[in-house]
Amino acid sequence: MTLTNKVALVTGAAQGIGLACAERLVADGAKVLMVDRDAAFLTTQTAHLGEKVACLAADLGAIDRDGAQSIVQAALTAFGRLDILVNNAGIMHLDDFVAYPETAFDAVMRVNVKAPFLLGQAAAHAMIAQGEGGCVINMSSTNAILVNPASTAYEVSKGAIRQLTAVMAADLIRYGIRVNAIGPGTILTDMVKKSLMMNADQQDMILSRTPIGRCGDPAEVASVASFLASDDASYIVGQTIYVDGGRLVLNYTTANT
Ligand SMILES: NC(=O)c1ccc[n+]([C@@H]2O[C@H](COP(=O)([O-])OP(=O)(O)OC[C@H]3O[C@@H](n4cnc5c(N)ncnc54)[C@H](O)[C@@H]3O)[C@@H](O)[C@H]2O)c1
Repeated sequence: MTLTNKVALVTGAAQGIGLACAERLVADGAKVLMVDRDAAFLTTQTAHLGEKVACLAADLGAIDRDGAQSIVQAALTAFGRLDILVNNAGIMHLDDFVAYPETAFDAVMRVNVKAPFLLGQAAAHAMIAQGEGGCVINMSSTNAILVNPASTAYEVSKGAIRQLTAVMAADLIRYGIRVNAIGPGTILTDMVKKSLMMNADQQDMILSRTPIGRCGDPAEVASVASFLASDDASYIVGQTIYVDGGRLVLNYTTANT
């Protein structure tokens, strides 16, 4: 197994892409601290993973530097080391630009950008102290490049993650810490079902912009996370790997539908 003896920390791990990442990392040999905001839900969702995982409830929208250090410390306490951080938790708020609430903008930026920054710093400290390198994977989106005009803060946050990934990668590689991002297209999770796939028209619209002709499965993102965390990705540094069924290469003006 490619990740035997590795310890990972995955945020937003109770469902969707985060849960799939944790499941895949465990299947590939890692132990995982799974972090999400609702302790009861997290425990229920992770019961099938047994002793290879530990759970921690934390609201990533409310953490400061000390809070981030406590989360990293929880991984060190549970499993003795930290090799992989998957900054996955993310939220979205939809509103017209002119009506977009300041509170929503702040909330999205705190969870989607500030928490990955703080956790990235705290994880880097732990990895540098270990002296054996490490790996950080930030969850970006095709919306780091494309925009949905009703989703200001989310688009800004994912663009920021692309650059956060680049700057972290350029600075941390001297310690052997590889930082990369994954940019999913439309993956069938709760976030998508509740925001973008509410009716047949929305589904048709999304599929008409997805050359592969279907939405992605969380496991198809998790397999890329596991690859990036493994030594097979040893020369990949500072990249965003788009897992999007062809979304970004499609020129919409030439689509048939
Ligand atoms: N699903 C997609 O199509 C898609 C596409 C591009 C990018 N992404 C990104 O992938 C990541 C996961 O998305 P998903 O679709 O699995 O979402 P999801 O809503 O299904 O799951 C997100 C998880 O994050 C947790 N979370 C949210 N806010 C939190 C907070 N303040 N503190 C702790 N945990 C919190 C939620 O409780 C939930 O378990 C996000 O960063 C999202 O932006 C998803």
